[in-house]
Amino acid sequence: MIKEDDRPESKVDLTGRSAIVTGAGSGIGRAIALTLARSGAEVMVNDIIGDRANETVAMIAAAGCKAAANVSDIADENAVAGFVGDAMAHWGKIDILCNNAGIMDKIEFVEDVSTELWNRVFAVNVTGQFFVMRAVLPHMRAARKGAIVNTVSEAGLRGGAAGATYVAAKHALAGLTKSVAWSHANEGIRCNGICPGAIETNITGGLGLEAFDPRGLARAGPVMALCERAAGPQAIANAALFLASDAAYYINGVMLPVDGGWMAG
Ligand SMILES: NC(=O)c1ccc[n+]([C@@H]2O[C@H](COP(=O)([O-])OP(=O)(O)OC[C@H]3O[C@@H](n4cnc5c(N)ncnc54)[C@H](O)[C@@H]3O)[C@@H](O)[C@H]2O)c1
Repeated sequence: MIKEDDRPESKVDLTGRSAIVTGAGSGIGRAIALTLARSGAEVMVNDIIGDRANETVAMIAAAGCKAAANVSDIADENAVAGFVGDAMAHWGKIDILCNNAGIMDKIEFVEDVSTELWNRVFAVNVTGQFFVMRAVLPHMRAARKGAIVNTVSEAGLRGGAAGATYVAAKHALAGLTKSVAWSHANEGIRCNGICPGAIETNITGGLGLEAFDPRGLARAGPVMALCERAAGPQAIANAALFLASDAAYYINGVMLPVDGGWMAG
């Protein structure tokens, strides 16, 4: 039997396109990078962990497709300016940005959140995504062409899907996505968000639900339980491929739930 996530993705042709995928050393970002590359795009595989980025590049190369690794923290604005500059020097254009890197909170109530955790979650999930778009957008505007796909979350749509910090950060990212979509809609640029449901990745650091605060988890649990089934990262990569492709030419500024129906409940 073919497992759901082993189904071949659709045959979208991205030959000649260049793409940056952040947080592409694991989970959703890796699946997006592989899928874009298999569809013909050349991919810059960014991750903060070098081994992970290199492994994704090796997987793409093994599939006979093109990628290069970039090891940097998207929350470091100089590093972001550097890798976007490198991408421009190499390709002369950036067609697709999948702004995907992100980290969880501990599903804590506001009163329990440390300033350090709050700042880091916002640094990666909002400010880092802003840094990458700020660096990429002038090039897309000059080309009057570009597709940005931000990995948001169900927690960007509802309050009970994670802890206060992650929910606040993902709502901010949803707002940023819509603002970019509207600001540049008349310049050939589209910017959309994907809101994954429960996707099997490394985001909890292999700790599963034990990584989370029991009080916050008890409150978020019933909302999470509405998501009846988890999926693999390919479910999100398929949606990213569509939104990044010309087939989505009239789709701009949406927050697309990819969640097996969770948001509908
Ligand atoms: N897994 C889910 O159920 C789920 C649900 C909703 C949204 N998301 C979002 O999906 C995105 C990808 O998460 P995932 O589930 O694939 O997790 P993951 O931990 O498997 O992958 C995330 C990758 O991002 C990298 N990363 C972390 N911080 C970084 C930084 N500052 N700069 C560059 N790279 C960095 C990590 O090293 C890792 O390889 C995140 O934005 C996350 O919030 C995930």
